[in-house]
Amino acid sequence: RRLSTVEVLGRSYPKDKFTNITPSILSKLPTQLYTRPGHPLNTLKTTIEAHFPDYAHFSNLPALVSTYQNFDSLSFPADHPGRSATDSYYVNKDLMLRTHTSAHEVEVFCDGHKKWLLTADVYRRDEIDSSHYPVFHQMEGARLFSDDLNVSGDALARENTRLFSELSSEHVVLEDRTLVDSKNPYQEHHNKQLADLVTQNLKYTLSLLLFKLFAQAADPSSEAPLQIRWIPAYFPFTTPSYEVEVFFRHKWLEILGCGVIQQATLTNAKVSNEIGWAFGLGLERIAMILYKIPDIRLFWSEDLRFLSQFKPGEISTFQPYSRYPATERDISFWCPNDFHSNDFCDIVRDEAGDLAEEVQLIDQYHDKRKQGYVMSRCFRIRFRSMERSMEHAEINKIVITIKKRASEALRVEIR
Ligand code: PHE
Repeated sequence: RRLSTVEVLGRSYPKDKFTNITPSILSKLPTQLYTRPGHPLNTLKTTIEAHFPDYAHFSNLPALVSTYQNFDSLSFPADHPGRSATDSYYVNKDLMLRTHTSAHEVEVFCDGHKKWLLTADVYRRDEIDSSHYPVFHQMEGARLFSDDLNVSGDALARENTRLFSELSSEHVVLEDRTLVDSKNPYQEHHNKQLADLVTQNLKYTLSLLLFKLFAQAADPSSEAPLQIRWIPAYFPFTTPSYEVEVFFRHKWLEILGCGVIQQATLTNAKVSNEIGWAFGLGLERIAMILYKIPDIRLFWSEDLRFLSQFKPGEISTFQPYSRYPATERDISFWCPNDFHSNDFCDIVRDEAGDLAEEVQLIDQYHDKRKQGYVMSRCFRIRFRSMERSMEHAEINKIVITIKKRASEALRVEIR
């Protein structure tokens, strides 16, 4: 059977056995939620951009990238799990939807930009619940310095002193759990002193950003300083690498990933005489915290009860309104050995769209007697519309189609 083509943003691409992009995902590509004035994602983006006025700001790069851009240019090993078709959306074996804004690092550095921010929609195959949606938004930020200590050392040291005194006067408490060690090392060829200055610059720069974002949303009556902590992390394209957490509303929350850019990335971008840092943050995650938005689907809502709540440039608390009732349906089936729940979730998304609120695996068991199908699984799907009440007949129809598609495409045997 001929595999034909798939159309993405007005162009046709040949399909192959990697193709797993669905119509419901394709329909999200032109949306650009973060460009809508007043939308929380737009306010967060413009607030962050205002914090970095002398950086170049990008937000128009197409979501379709090569696997080289998304992975190889960033030193992802060939067997990295992120490359798997169960985790990413592929148009075909060479082209995919970016899974992170880091996919554009090489091209932006290659264009000569040394201080920049980039906002974009990113795509990941995942479960279905209140904090996971296959499309979300990230902001990448990066800054480069000359890798010659004589050229950039003094200026960096002076800037770091200034940033540090700003932080202290703002009552930010930095808890640093990181140690540069063999697990999270500086890079071989870097001058240690310079790598240390760059790491400090990254920490102070991001701490001031987080102070700006979180302090205005924190309890204003509290005199307590904002607590920020730095945790060692791993990314293929940075070392040392960190995750940053903020103590907010009585909890430590993971906010972003960052680190000192791997030399290989800079070499790919033909700027090998530079050293620098990069960070990537999830806009929905931060907006859900700051605005108290309980469900990630709300960002896509056209309901005026949602949209009319927000003023451009203002981070305010979301006022919940009454929700329409939910309906649950269980689907059980025997699974072949290569079954992956992300494949099932994509069929649910494709048929139910934003009516799918949560897909939960509620039961699974082995049966060795059943030939070929060893595992039985039962998924509970919760349907709820954000904007209207649903008919039972409508849900029944969707469930029948989900079962049909799952048995055809995933070779499950419905029970
Ligand atoms: N791209 C990483 C992610 O999506 C975040 C990151 C960006 C980490 C830049 C380090 C440097 O998780």
